[in-house]
Amino acid sequence: MSSRTKYTDEYSKIVVPELFFEEAERFAEAMLYNKCAIKEIQTKLEILNDELSLKTKRNPIESISSRLKQPKSIIGKLRRNNWPITVDSLEEHLNDVAGVRVICSFIEDIYSVADMFVKQDDINVLIRKDYIKNPKDNGYRSLHLIVEVPIFLSEKVLKRRVEVQIRTIAMDFWASLEHQVKYKKGIPDADRIVQELADCASVIAETDKKMQDIYHKIVTMEGRI
Ligand code: GTP
Ligand code: MG
Repeated sequence: MSSRTKYTDEYSKIVVPELFFEEAERFAEAMLYNKCAIKEIQTKLEILNDELSLKTKRNPIESISSRLKQPKSIIGKLRRNNWPITVDSLEEHLNDVAGVRVICSFIEDIYSVADMFVKQDDINVLIRKDYIKNPKDNGYRSLHLIVEVPIFLSEKVLKRRVEVQIRTIAMDFWASLEHQVKYKKGIPDADRIVQELADCASVIAETDKKMQDIYHKIVTMEGRI
């Protein structure tokens, strides 16, 4: 830990006020930059959706939501990984302080939106995880991108990372229920619920595919009329 960020007295653990406040200010600054990065990404996706809805007469993106990681969750993740609990460490290690979630109608929309988005000149993809082609063992499906985006400030341009999760409505429905199960302690019969969720994930994956096929049929029929 650098002396700049060490704000406790080694022996008494009494907080050194000046250093504590300095770090608190840097934390607020870091969170502000992450908030700006979310806005950049969200706007890019909204513009794509607006243009696509004009071209295709439908919205490939159902909704976009975002969240800034809570300080408690930031500390929790740094601690779990044995990383220092400092602003420098947060900036270095965490990819998901800024998070954007995109809900699409169909699986194909996920890939077309993702392709158009990552092609943009100022978007740099650092990590791509395709949990749709390779679902997690519990059945979790989504496309994850960790991207770096520039944010334009008064005197400088900074790059910040944003975690973008792209999924269908059905995948989102499943993930929110599974999330509740994961974080609720002491659920009776938890193993059976995990199994039921895994079964549901398969049904949902199948339904997503069927919906896509039905949509193609409708479009083809429309073309014939
Ligand atoms: P985290 O440390 O949890 O951020 O995971 P990671 O760095 O290994 O990345 P991963 O791409 O696996 O997960 C990132 C995020 O995707 C998580 O924070 C969740 O929001 C979501 N996610 C991943 N796996 C699951 C899952 O099994 N269930 C649900 N509900 N969400 C998941
Ligand atoms: Mg996360």
